[in-house]
Amino acid sequence: MTYENDAFMIRRSVGAILRNQASNGAIVASPDFAQYHFCWLRDASFSAYALDRAGEQEASGRYHSWVNEAVEGIADIIDRVIEARLRGEVLDPMHMPPARFAIDGSTVVDDWPNFQIDGYGTWLWSLGQHLDAIGEATVPKNLLASVRRVARYLATFALSPCYDVWEENGDAIHTSTLACVYGGLQAAGHLLDEVEFLDCAETVRAQLSVSAARIGYYVKSSTDDDVDASSLWLSSPFGVINSTDESFSKTVTLIEDQLSLDEGIRRYPTDVYFGSGAWPVLTASLGWHHLSVDDVEGATRCRDSVAALFDDEGFLGEQFGGDRRDPKHYQEWVDRWGPPARDLTWSHAMFVVLSIALKEYDTSNRVGAVTSMSGDDESRENSRRTG
Ligand code: BGC
Repeated sequence: MTYENDAFMIRRSVGAILRNQASNGAIVASPDFAQYHFCWLRDASFSAYALDRAGEQEASGRYHSWVNEAVEGIADIIDRVIEARLRGEVLDPMHMPPARFAIDGSTVVDDWPNFQIDGYGTWLWSLGQHLDAIGEATVPKNLLASVRRVARYLATFALSPCYDVWEENGDAIHTSTLACVYGGLQAAGHLLDEVEFLDCAETVRAQLSVSAARIGYYVKSSTDDDVDASSLWLSSPFGVINSTDESFSKTVTLIEDQLSLDEGIRRYPTDVYFGSGAWPVLTASLGWHHLSVDDVEGATRCRDSVAALFDDEGFLGEQFGGDRRDPKHYQEWVDRWGPPARDLTWSHAMFVVLSIALKEYDTSNRVGAVTSMSGDDESRENSRRTG
């Protein structure tokens, strides 16, 4: 792929994220799939990060202000469930803070499996990244109460079973949820300078090592020894595990071996949602990991596989190939909800994140290579480039 084409594709996907952002800052999961006409903290917090990486700090800031207001709107729910848990009460998962909000920031009363703490962790992490991008070392005053409230919520429920990042399996503790919670608690601990949150993040890290010590890789959850591609986030971006950690490397190998399709990476072995096609979000996540271990070729391969999935109008869907992999389940979901989302905001976001990371990697290595060269090497290199 040429650099001009690459820059064009990044700009086009940034444009898609901006197009899918309402003026109040909310970012819709997908404009063309009725079930996704909401703002999920998970999808949108990754999208805000992509906006920051692309230099769109104003838009990312608007998203974080929107979350602040949405969290203020459910402050009583968050406080109530924290107090109830501390009193030892059993809580109804259907009445926990929501995974997704209406675009106006209100909550939606329905039977969605809302108790998903990962999104709150990803929000705090993404906010931390945003403040870093705009050179703010501390939380702006108007956001303080929400940041503290969400961090308390995470610290209270960090090790509770809840629904996972795929909104399933509400009776288990999930590896990628723990990664997101760790990222959020770390960010809050540093931003608020509160050691209690950092200590809790360490407890989460310790919990993660349990499966690795038992079985040698990071399992999907406390009730499922399969792998799940969202465990890639353990290292990039949440940094709870080092990218060269032996059990993590084994996890990545298992993910590649068991979850690769021609179009990229699917979610987990027994997935049936729309036949379980390849998700650009996950293929890009794998590429992000490859880059963190200096595997530029692997990262480029992932970027190119996602790049090949854009349609003629520049839309990038949720998943690809499920119709061929498992036609029966694909059709079941089409009958229920129509075809899978054709334009999914966080698919664009992860493509942007990977593409920018690759560009930066390339630039810094070129600069590094040139500055470390002797005069003779440099002239040889120059003639190679021009020749
Ligand atoms: C996915 C979630 C995602 C939601 C909105 C669901 O199908 O499993 O991870 O947040 O769609 O995109």
